[in-house]
Amino acid sequence: MAKESDVITMKIQNIRFPEYLKNETLRRWVSETAALVEPRDVYFCDGSDEEYRRLCDEMVAAGTLKRLNEAKRPGSFLALSDPSDVARVEDRTYVCTRNHEDAGPNNNWMDPVEMKKTLNPLLRGCMRGRTMYVIPFSMGPIGSPISQVGVEISDSPYVVVNMRIMTRMGRKVLDVLGDRADFVHCLHTVGAPLEPGNKDVAWPCNKELKYITHFPEDKTIISYGSGYGGNALLGKKCFALRIASFMGRQEGWLAEHMLILGAESPKGEKTYVAAAFPSACGKTNFAMLIPPKTMNGWKITTIGDDIAWIKPGKDGRLYAINPEAGYFGVAPGTSLRTNENAIKTISKNTIFTNVALTEDGDVWWEGLSDRPPTRLTDWQGNPWTPEIGKETGKKAAHPNARFTAPAGQCPSIDPNWENPEGVPISAFIFGGRRGTTVPLVVEPRDWESGVYWAATIGSETTAAAAGAVGQVRRDPFAMLPFCGYHMGDYFQHWLNMGTGLPRPPRIFGVNWFRKGPDGKFMWPGYGENMRVLEWIIGRVQGIAHGRETEIGIVPRYSDLNWSGMDMSELQFEAVSKIDREEWSQELRLQSELIEKLNSRIPKRFHEIHKSLTSRFESKSASSKAGSASSLML
Ligand code: OXD
Ligand code: MN
Repeated sequence: MAKESDVITMKIQNIRFPEYLKNETLRRWVSETAALVEPRDVYFCDGSDEEYRRLCDEMVAAGTLKRLNEAKRPGSFLALSDPSDVARVEDRTYVCTRNHEDAGPNNNWMDPVEMKKTLNPLLRGCMRGRTMYVIPFSMGPIGSPISQVGVEISDSPYVVVNMRIMTRMGRKVLDVLGDRADFVHCLHTVGAPLEPGNKDVAWPCNKELKYITHFPEDKTIISYGSGYGGNALLGKKCFALRIASFMGRQEGWLAEHMLILGAESPKGEKTYVAAAFPSACGKTNFAMLIPPKTMNGWKITTIGDDIAWIKPGKDGRLYAINPEAGYFGVAPGTSLRTNENAIKTISKNTIFTNVALTEDGDVWWEGLSDRPPTRLTDWQGNPWTPEIGKETGKKAAHPNARFTAPAGQCPSIDPNWENPEGVPISAFIFGGRRGTTVPLVVEPRDWESGVYWAATIGSETTAAAAGAVGQVRRDPFAMLPFCGYHMGDYFQHWLNMGTGLPRPPRIFGVNWFRKGPDGKFMWPGYGENMRVLEWIIGRVQGIAHGRETEIGIVPRYSDLNWSGMDMSELQFEAVSKIDREEWSQELRLQSELIEKLNSRIPKRFHEIHKSLTSRFESKSASSKAGSASSLML
């Protein structure tokens, strides 16, 4: 009698490919992978509504998903992950370039051959007892010249339904792929084979071992052991940022950790901007911003909230698409007050992960309402009350709890969000989370100084993170965990992109997080950020003014629109202050970053750093002599 494993292998050798799947490279890869991972069966995702519904039903039956109250949250589900599998695992994430140096000090590295040797024994038989799903997907509108095709092979139906929301997924992608072999190969397993007689769990994963590995030279991703977010939905951080940034450098384009929004002025003129902020700095809120009513009819439309792919167009401008088709947003802190558009977006057809469940089958998280409901089931499935929360410090929702929702449901979605040509970008905005030093908004003097600015953004560490409080963690371009090659080469690529364009976008720095001596934020943020955006757009149009400082142009109080907002000139000066002592310290810290990337840091960066330093030194000399240094523009 054949052993169980022989039977599986025989079945696999008989994979029934759908007749529409003609791509030879894909057929071969599917067969080879199946022979290695030994699944119970192989399923080819067609991306239909029927398929989505069926998989959701199956997961409800298996306990992976809970159907939410149909009257309150139609078509929506809740998944609770294993408590050990709740976020991206940066320390288990590798970029495996052939040459170590090419991955840069910003990535964990292992030789690609060594990594495959390490992974192979883990992958052998890793899908036993499970279905192997083949998921063709397009990052970007199908057929757009900026889009790219990937195929994810995964043993997680949760991944399939999330990929259905986050990407253009299914059979139609194979039509555009044709017989090309250049799709990104994405292999994902939860790393939890089911041996005969073993009962499955609601959230299978490998609690001991995880590997999120990238082979950019082979356009391949292999992810082992996690079922969560960026570790498992391989189109997102792994492909659309790490692999795509590597491709972009080779091919002359950019893959960025940026939101894209359209701003329509009261006169009806539309300007598109892209903005980068480190994770958890409110990108989704900014992308869906609702301007204050008192600002005379500004309107914001949303193209994307997390990732932008940007290519030069024939007219010498940069054009951007959102490669994603959905939002995988952080739930805690999202409310009608902080992001009304997001709340409306997730009112139906949404998959929630690790939020709390209300007694009437709806969802809740910290920040959704001022007062928590009296009784909840928390993200680990345990009873939770505000008292339990107070006594134990346990949150009802995990701080990294997420919603997965179709982008088309967003009330502020831009009419051009699926335009295959993309939208022309007029400005890039870079923001960190800085309690001190960095003013509300600044326009560095030119493209190169702007690139330097973006390279040095960062966030001050808080008591919530390990390490000393108040230290600045640099997160260049908000890409530190996502750049698929050496950061120094990345900076040079950015320098080259702008200097090669006749009309590069303007670059701005912002900081919504400056604090006063009382420790409170000095800027209200959210909708009021429109005032800063209006100034930025005014600069692009040549109608807004400011004063020249050592670090670039900064608006004066009279340069911003204050209608309907109560902020005194003194308060504005505090939030815009450029303090010499703070900046001398800042420039010393910036040299640490430059030293870290030393071997490949652009020469231009040394010059910019030197000239910034000397500008502060000469200011100190002139202010001692009693002269004001700011030049009005
Ligand atoms: C994200 C992140 O999940 O940046 O978008 O971490
Ligand atoms: Mn992100």
